[in-house]
Amino acid sequence: MQVRTENNRELTAFESDVLTGFSSTPKHLPSKYFYDDEGSRLFQEIMHLPEYYLTRAEYEILETHTAAILARFLDKKKAFNLIELGAGDGLKTKLLLKYFVAQKVDFRYAPIDISAEALQQLTQNVTTHLPTLKVQPIEGDYFTALRQVKVQEGARNVVLFLGSNIGNFSYQASIDFLSQLKASLQPNDLLLLGFDLKKHPQIILNAYNDASGVTRAFNLNLLKRLNQTLDANFDLRQFDHYPTYDPHSGEARSYLVSKIAQEVHLKEVDETVVFQAGETIHTEISRKYTEEEMKGIAQKAGFEWVKSFTDSNCYFVDAVFRVV
Ligand code: AVJ
Repeated sequence: MQVRTENNRELTAFESDVLTGFSSTPKHLPSKYFYDDEGSRLFQEIMHLPEYYLTRAEYEILETHTAAILARFLDKKKAFNLIELGAGDGLKTKLLLKYFVAQKVDFRYAPIDISAEALQQLTQNVTTHLPTLKVQPIEGDYFTALRQVKVQEGARNVVLFLGSNIGNFSYQASIDFLSQLKASLQPNDLLLLGFDLKKHPQIILNAYNDASGVTRAFNLNLLKRLNQTLDANFDLRQFDHYPTYDPHSGEARSYLVSKIAQEVHLKEVDETVVFQAGETIHTEISRKYTEEEMKGIAQKAGFEWVKSFTDSNCYFVDAVFRVV
């Protein structure tokens, strides 16, 4: 695998991930690269789709159980740092923030996101609505950013990992991720984890195969991003979006499919990618769990289950876990 570009510049992490993904069999691209500014905008649209029930279900949970959630966050110390991983537009989090501010809770909000635009909009939005709220936005990926969260004496850390973002990991990767998260926390710190439950497979598949084609555009935007940032020549009309759901593993998967045999050139890194007709690029896993499966994962990572909250359809769970 090449480590330098034609003009002898070192590859960025993004470039190296893309080249690794395209030279693997089968081909894949990491889903974290969906979220450039356009991808973040498309994801906002997804959250309002009739088929995409996840956001509404979690909104209902946070709206219904706000007081009970706060009761779990407060302990003898009373003060806490509310750290949100992958904050996005923060629409759901605002439910909590508003209530905590109204209850005069002593806390600070540190949203972490890889999209600078999304983070800036979120910060502006919450400070406009909640001028007394202390906000410390951190741009970057989760663990780099977590290291920047200032340790505060006498304040417990409460990490929000909402929206089924945990679903983007495979089973083993989710254990590794939570173990790594645990390692950057203290005993008695908390995690509020939002995950999507296994349910009728058709309901799940529809959520990733919306009639209006926004999820399709969201996937194709990954190729558009490669055209823009790596000076590639993907013809988006020659690729399809193909979502699947396997009820046994609980894995919803998204693929891009090359409709024809074709070659694509990535000029910036001077690489040619060859596609057979019908060849796939795996772009995303959105994994679904039973509550018991998730408790098992969290336990393996060093967290103890405290309490679960669910919506009226029992589609989604927000569970509080404590660092042992
Ligand atoms: C933001 C990762 C939770 O997997 O459901 C939505 C992203 N992908 N539609 C999900 C997504 C396609 C979403 N997460």
